[in-house]
Amino acid sequence: MSPAAPLALTVKPDEAKAISPHLFGLFFEDINWGADGGLYPERIRNRSFEFSAMSHPTWNNFTGWELVERGGGRAWWSLDQGIPLHPNNPHALVLHVREPGEGAGIRNEGFDGIVLEKGAKYDVSFFGRLTYMGARWGGEPFGDGSPMPVVVRLESESGEVLGEASFDITSPEWEKHTATITAKKSDPKAHFVLLGKAPGGIALDMISVFPQDTFKGRPNGMRPDLAQVLADLKPGFLRFPGGCVAHGHNLSNMYRWPDTIGPLEERRGMFNLWGYHQSMGIGYHEYFQFSEDLGAEPLPVVPAGVCCQNAGHTKGGGQHGIPLDDMDAYIQEVLDLIEYANGPVSSEWGAKRAANGHPEPFNLKWLGVGNEDHITPVFEQRFRMIYDAVKEKHPEIEVIGTSGPFWHGPDFDAGWKLAREIDLPMVDEHYYVAPEWFLENQERYDSYDRNESKVYLGEYAAHEPDRANTLRSALAEAAFMTGLERNGDIVHFASYAPLLGREGHTQWRPDLIYFTGTDILLTPNYHVQKLFAQHAGDTFLPVEVGGQNEALSVSCVKDSQSGDVIIKLVNNGDAALPVSLDPSKLGKFARTAKVWTLAGDLKAVNTWEQPDQVAPQESTLPISAKLERELPAHSLTVIRLPAR
Ligand code: AHR
Repeated sequence: MSPAAPLALTVKPDEAKAISPHLFGLFFEDINWGADGGLYPERIRNRSFEFSAMSHPTWNNFTGWELVERGGGRAWWSLDQGIPLHPNNPHALVLHVREPGEGAGIRNEGFDGIVLEKGAKYDVSFFGRLTYMGARWGGEPFGDGSPMPVVVRLESESGEVLGEASFDITSPEWEKHTATITAKKSDPKAHFVLLGKAPGGIALDMISVFPQDTFKGRPNGMRPDLAQVLADLKPGFLRFPGGCVAHGHNLSNMYRWPDTIGPLEERRGMFNLWGYHQSMGIGYHEYFQFSEDLGAEPLPVVPAGVCCQNAGHTKGGGQHGIPLDDMDAYIQEVLDLIEYANGPVSSEWGAKRAANGHPEPFNLKWLGVGNEDHITPVFEQRFRMIYDAVKEKHPEIEVIGTSGPFWHGPDFDAGWKLAREIDLPMVDEHYYVAPEWFLENQERYDSYDRNESKVYLGEYAAHEPDRANTLRSALAEAAFMTGLERNGDIVHFASYAPLLGREGHTQWRPDLIYFTGTDILLTPNYHVQKLFAQHAGDTFLPVEVGGQNEALSVSCVKDSQSGDVIIKLVNNGDAALPVSLDPSKLGKFARTAKVWTLAGDLKAVNTWEQPDQVAPQESTLPISAKLERELPAHSLTVIRLPAR
């Protein structure tokens, strides 16, 4: 049988159109331990003793900690909220040391163990104060109110000391104690121990072991290896802080940005509706800073004055609105956010930004209001109030509305109807559907009205029945993404969701990236996102396919900065597909094109044992009057023609 003639592709530069320069970006939510125990590299779990049964049914203020009594040491602990370190951080642990022995104190297990790297420096800190341990409850008095010597240690599982520092707690007032410890050995499962060396009592709070090695060296910064794989995605934007975390599990669980900036001990941690606790160690300032460090546009999402419709363990009936009497204050909070991001340092919130280390503005341009909310009268009233206020005070900010959790249906229709009525700049769509859906709906945005609101595809992922990150799901997303590029004039942003999942602690799969305390597993879906984002453009060049082939999805973009032209080809068929293309009308190019191919078995997944089962292969292709390439069965091929 003679090989099939290549399918001729004709790129039409005369029909070029401008598309979003920030099309592919990141959706970040603290789900699956994505922040605490993930991107946020704090080593101490429950550092401020604020875990509770709200966070998780079996948790309390001491979760993550255990009492240490070694070699005759005798101690116990209690919980205190009489003299809080800050009203937002009300609980403290009181350590009662009866006999110091060879060790009386507390131990922290970290997040599946404390990861230490030999020679790395860790900033250790805690707040402490002396407590009165005299004959409380009529017991035998102990301790005489003298300063309490304390030692903190990083220890291996067997008790080997991998680094330590000593302190004296001398004051009945809260004082911060700090030291830097250099790890003597690497250990993925070390522990933190704090021991009192004399009889007496101390209150402790905000106990922290924080690596100095962070992404871009930021204090209180991000875990560098995880941040780097995000940076490698060259994100056009960073959406934060959710997801459902943004609107919360009830009105008091809404993510309120002012509670998340400033000194760490003054931030209001709270339960995370995904079944754990969020410390707010990564707060709004860190999100803005991280956006800047990634070269991504910041895209915060604030609650639309309502909490999640599934709040209170209801299925759709739990939406509550901020009381109307409180809406003015809430709206002011939203306006303050814009001032925090962009205001001059002479403004109230601009001054706070400067005090937090960033006098320059963060250049906020887009603001999400609401997250896949149920579009009810309660929602609509509050959304309109917020939108009107932002539009009036900050016409330069584009507000992004919401259209519920599905790709169609009553909320979808109502969200879009509202958008049309108020001439909203952009609408956030979400859908998690089967790979087949993505293949069948590649033309979804071809018919969207160009005179209406733009689209932010805020959350999407192809879900296999078993929620595995198969090559099949990744290629379905890739095919769909060629449609996003083709419609990049109306689809302004798109982000896969969720982004991160800590192995053993996921509430939601699939995710784009899995990780442990030390390692990272990239999925086929990650490779697709990376290939699209690293080879994005700002101009779309239509492609005519010379013949029928339902398995092929193709898009072509130009990056005006480099002048490079990039062609993305997805072959979702069972057979290899030869294609040819004449690049002569597209510009002047170097002699060789770079090619990346992601191919394999549709069911293939990356595992911890075989992390590169599905990974792009790089090759080259001579650039001549006719480019020819065979697209393997089940593959994504990206061909980059470098401008000369
Ligand atoms: O991405 C996970 C969740 O999916 C988000 O928190 C929510 O917005 C959606 O339902």
